[in-house]
Amino acid sequence: MTQNIINARVTFRNSPIHILEQFTIKDIDNAYEKFKKDSGLDECVIIQTCNRIELFGKSKSTEIEKIKKTWASLTGLEEESFNENVEFVENQEALHHLLKLTSGLDSMVLGEEQILGQIKKSITSAREIKASGQHLNTLFDKAIRMGTRIRNSSGIGKGGISVGSMAVKLAEENIDELKTKKILLIGTGEVSTLVAKSLQRRDYGFNVTSRTISRSQTFCETMGGEAVKFEDVLSGFDKYDVIFVATTAPYFLVTHERITTAMNGKNKGMMILDLSNPRTVDEKVATIGGVKLMNLDQIAEMVEKNMNARQNKVKIVENIINEEVSVLEASMKRLDAEPLVKDVFKNIDSLRIKELQKALSMLDEKDEKKIKIIEELTKAVVESIVSTPMNNIRKASEQGKPDVVELASKLFDYKQNQAD
Ligand SMILES: NC(=O)c1ccc[n+]([C@@H]2O[C@H](COP(=O)([O-])OP(=O)(O)OC[C@H]3O[C@@H](n4cnc5c(N)ncnc54)[C@H](OP(=O)(O)O)[C@@H]3O)[C@@H](O)[C@H]2O)c1
Repeated sequence: MTQNIINARVTFRNSPIHILEQFTIKDIDNAYEKFKKDSGLDECVIIQTCNRIELFGKSKSTEIEKIKKTWASLTGLEEESFNENVEFVENQEALHHLLKLTSGLDSMVLGEEQILGQIKKSITSAREIKASGQHLNTLFDKAIRMGTRIRNSSGIGKGGISVGSMAVKLAEENIDELKTKKILLIGTGEVSTLVAKSLQRRDYGFNVTSRTISRSQTFCETMGGEAVKFEDVLSGFDKYDVIFVATTAPYFLVTHERITTAMNGKNKGMMILDLSNPRTVDEKVATIGGVKLMNLDQIAEMVEKNMNARQNKVKIVENIINEEVSVLEASMKRLDAEPLVKDVFKNIDSLRIKELQKALSMLDEKDEKKIKIIEELTKAVVESIVSTPMNNIRKASEQGKPDVVELASKLFDYKQNQAD
């Protein structure tokens, strides 16, 4: 590839969630501008979920130090922290990683569907603001299609365990007779839906709250549970034995003070499961007597166990990815020749039109039918002469022969930057 595809990432695999969240990029539009201006990337796409922050980029040369520097300036982190937490790969390995992402192989919950939706959202918004261009748009479109196909043919997502059911399982493992306990779910978004589904499947009763009671009521109509007022919950945590928290609140909803007050009037223990990232439960609550706090990191551990039990499927998917990655790579290499091919076709066509008009005016031809025939003739001649060499240039590019593309560029007097 004459163009480099790079991937720089911080994920739950290398970094615990509380470290990972420090790498979160808050202002994505500004980040796109900075990565392009300061890191030399021509195109970029940022994927951010609660388990990963990933940057895909396209450039002529890769300067990881510049990427780290820009990322550090966006987050206020020291550049050294990037050495420990950021993984960096390029070209075939970057394509391979994207396929692992779209097929769900790199997810905390093996084969989970949410990541595919998150990737689609990322490329759609990058495309809208023109942060991505021809290379990354093509790469992501293809990787999404391939990932979907791999999921369907391998059944990797089937029988998997969602973040929601995993959290419920953790509660079951840690609390005796969960059925007799008072359960609260804070949040009515995607993750809460997964928790609610799992609670309902196991026949547990639960209360649901979010900032607007009407939203909680609508949620309960489809997901079960009973809606309760947010204000009542915040001042009355003592009513609950198990609390699932899955919100995007940018501050602690479950504070040390609130739980201390709740535990004062309570003679039973309390388990709190914080599924949020960034966290919405102050970690200090774990120091209060009788309180057990669990977060996404612990869930990751459980998923790891779940992964071990499913290694066979992983092998199948890995094999498919290894085959598909060369197809993806060939498509990307083919793209390298496209600006040249487009330019040659454009130049030859304008010559054709110029010569055609000259000939028609010399003939002083007025008959539309004859003009059409002559015009079609010029197109056919051009097409039959140009298509074979152009297809050969594409093929050479696909087969990783940049010298052929370079030679053709010289022959057709094509300057690389003119179509970039
Ligand atoms: N999606 C995933 O794959 C995944 C996996 C694991 C963990 N997580 C983490 O789980 C959390 C929830 O994710 P999600 O996908 O469910 O998000 P979501 O669908 O966007 O839902 C967000 C929820 O947060 C509530 N909320 C937002 N701001 C709030 C505030 N200031 N105070 C109280 N509630 C607030 C919203 O309720 P109202 O606006 O109605 O109040 C809504 O119920 C996030 O921290 C995410 O990082 C996500």
